[in-house]
Amino acid sequence: MLVVIKQDYDEMSKEAALLVADLIHRKPNCVLGFATGSTPLGLYQELIRMYREEGLDFSKVTTFNLDEYVGLPPEHPQSYHYFMWENLFKHINVDRRYVHIPHGMAVDVEEFCEWYEERIKQAGGIDLQILGIGANGHIAFNEPGSSLGSRTRIKTLDEFTKRDNARFFENQEEVPKYTITMGVGTIMDAKSLLLLASGNSKADAIHATVEGPITALYPATIVQMHRKATIICDEEAASKLSRKYSGYLS
Ligand code: GLP
Repeated sequence: MLVVIKQDYDEMSKEAALLVADLIHRKPNCVLGFATGSTPLGLYQELIRMYREEGLDFSKVTTFNLDEYVGLPPEHPQSYHYFMWENLFKHINVDRRYVHIPHGMAVDVEEFCEWYEERIKQAGGIDLQILGIGANGHIAFNEPGSSLGSRTRIKTLDEFTKRDNARFFENQEEVPKYTITMGVGTIMDAKSLLLLASGNSKADAIHATVEGPITALYPATIVQMHRKATIICDEEAASKLSRKYSGYLS
């Protein structure tokens, strides 16, 4: 695992964008896994800038998003569909036929989840999966206690995450109870991982993820087992690491 510590959020976002752009240059038809949350917004801004100013070409890229709230239609402002189109996809030349986001209104959720897994396989697997991290150690919506071998499925949101994500809704009651999320096993199948974390609120999570024991109670810790995982974080998020120098391999 490569841990890269940058000075602040902007530097973290730019470093992450260079890594994504490098993959697109090397493999224009690559498969990218995208994440939501506030952390990757700076990365998405930088990718949009690269598209506009440097001609970074997304036209052959296939995308898969990590998760979506069950019960929110794509046009709902808090849905992850809406988030991705507003914050990235509508600003770049991605081909909408190649965009995949779990469908929060799927009639048969189980069938949908199987289809999603199958689509990832048909696309040749995810080349690079971008991840944020919940302060409770979740990745995507794999909450504490999630099976480390899990596949795309429906999950109940943790009370902690509901409180955390209530800031995006009118009140906590409006936060959906269920989500469709790639499983921990699905994420681990990606050929490479890029986990981003910024700010003091993520310091404990980064400490556990990099230096703690691997446990389903902290799903992000499984990243230690991945053959090609990069964590890019800022100094605040890295502040609780005991071995702290930028660009170290563990
Ligand atoms: C949500 C998403 C995660 C994300 C997390 C952290 O729960 N499902 O994929 O990593 O939020 O969000 P933020 O980056 O806003 O802290």
